[in-house]
Amino acid sequence: MTKSRDDREELKHDPGRRKFLKGVGIAGAGAAIADHLWTEAEAKEKVSTPESLSGSVKVVLDVNGQKREAQVEPRTTLLNTLRNHLEPAVTGPKLVCDVGTCGACTVLLDGKPVYSCLVLAVDATNKKITTVEGLGTPENPNAVQAAFVENDALMCGFCTPGFVTTISAYLKKNPNPSMAEVREACKGNFCRCGTYPRVFEAALAAAKSSQA
Ligand code: FES
Ligand code: FES
Repeated sequence: MTKSRDDREELKHDPGRRKFLKGVGIAGAGAAIADHLWTEAEAKEKVSTPESLSGSVKVVLDVNGQKREAQVEPRTTLLNTLRNHLEPAVTGPKLVCDVGTCGACTVLLDGKPVYSCLVLAVDATNKKITTVEGLGTPENPNAVQAAFVENDALMCGFCTPGFVTTISAYLKKNPNPSMAEVREACKGNFCRCGTYPRVFEAALAAAKSSQA
C-alpha cells in the first residue's frame, strides 16, 4: 500500500516505535493488508487518549482458538510474544528481517494477513490470531499446506509459513485465482531460495483441490 505524503510527514514528526509500528506495520503488511485497519487505528487514536503503559503487562491472546497469556513489555511485538513469551512457544511465524520487509512472520489477525513483527502484542489482544499451526496439522493439513508438500514448494522453509498463511487467506477471498493474481497476492512475501515458481504452482493446485 502506498502511504500518502501526509502520512509519511506525520510519522517523521513522531518517531516513537509504537507510532512506527502502527503506521508502517499496517502499511507494510503486504498485499493483503486492509486499508481500513489503518483508518480504524487512526480513528481510535483520535477519539481516545490511550493510557500510557510501562513496565510489563499481562496480555491475553487468542492464538489458534486458544487463550494464551503472556507477560510482556508494551513495546513487545506480536512475533516476539508468540515465539519467546508463550509456553509452549508458537514458532511457525519466523523472525527474519524484523522490519516488515520479508513476510516470514505473517499471521492472520481476524483473517487478514499482517506482519507480526510490526504489530504490538498489546494491540492484538482483541483479535483472533491464526498462525500456520492453526491452519492445519501434519495429519490433517489444509489444502495449501498439502499442496506445498505435493509440489515441493520449499527449500530452506523459512519463508514457507508466511507464504502458506498469506495464500490460505487469499484463497478464501478468491477461490479461483489466476497465476497473475496469485503472484500479486504474494508480493509481500519473499523467498530467498527462489522457490517462487513452485510456491505459485502450489497455490493454484490448492485452489483446484479445494474446488474438487
Ligand atoms: S520478519 Fe516480519 S516482515 Fe520479515
Ligand atoms: S524456501 Fe528458503 S527462503 Fe523460501
